[in-house]
Amino acid sequence: MNNYAALRTDAHLHPRTQALLDIQYLPELGVGINFQKSLSSLLAKGSSLIDFVEFNPTDLCTWQERHDCWRLEPSDPMVEQFFRSTAGLPKVVHGETLSLGSVSGWNKAYLRAMDSVADREEIAWHSEHLGFLNVTTTDGEHYHAGSILPLPFCEESLNLLVPRIKALINRYQRPFLLENTAFYLPGIDGFGMDEVDFFNALAERVGEGFGILLDLYNFHCNAVNFNTNPWEKLAKLDKTRVVEVHLAGGCNLQGMEINNRSNHTPEPVWELLEALLPDATNLKALVFECPEVGLGQFSETDVLRNLERANSHWRHRVTRTQREVV
Ligand SMILES: [Fe+2]
Repeated sequence: MNNYAALRTDAHLHPRTQALLDIQYLPELGVGINFQKSLSSLLAKGSSLIDFVEFNPTDLCTWQERHDCWRLEPSDPMVEQFFRSTAGLPKVVHGETLSLGSVSGWNKAYLRAMDSVADREEIAWHSEHLGFLNVTTTDGEHYHAGSILPLPFCEESLNLLVPRIKALINRYQRPFLLENTAFYLPGIDGFGMDEVDFFNALAERVGEGFGILLDLYNFHCNAVNFNTNPWEKLAKLDKTRVVEVHLAGGCNLQGMEINNRSNHTPEPVWELLEALLPDATNLKALVFECPEVGLGQFSETDVLRNLERANSHWRHRVTRTQREVV
């Protein structure tokens, strides 16, 4: 834990920085999409539907050999090319490989990737998933799960995550959002908390600079797979902490709802969004997460259809300003 403490978890912040970390002052970005090679083609056909782009800084890295060791390192040409090709579009960072919940320590290669883009003014916030990918055993052996695995919703997990999240907020001087995942293992919520209790506790303990990235399809998957009531769970969520929402669709394999971003956003997820919007007073962005166009059956028309519907919800939400006028 010492290396996390060394990242100034209790640093006294300049007042201007504190304003930057207040999620209510974040810019309202609108509707966005995960970065993909066909973005320019999508923009040509539906520029009015895409307000911003979400990207993973690891995608701007290459494997490089140093001292007989291969490491994932940021590629300056790839970083520059990415920012050139998306000039004019606001951007947010969405990581997948930080491995925030690894007891043996997070993935430093991800931080190097994040460092390479962190000074860009157009990045309003960064985010990661709740879970872990990497494990280093006490014998020093390294394992990679291949897919993000869940942390149990318990005090021990909160104690692990809170200082790390505070360290991230301080390191990048920007709000940090944590995303709920779809998990497929039973027993994760067998410690007196479910995922909503856990996120509410994180929000309270981290305080300033922490936001929730609510993936409503993951939320739906967990409700289907573990036969829980998503409406009751949504009712108790601290919705004022929700800064961003993910929309997506997947498949049903032998009764298990799987988020492989392979499909249209299903109806129950749109219904959850409708219910969320009135109380999500600090919501700044909706993202439709989809596979690379051309992979599988998903076409540009399919992507645009989901973006159109997300835009309709975004336009019809009641904003904080409008609420205050009323
Ligand atoms: Fe997501």
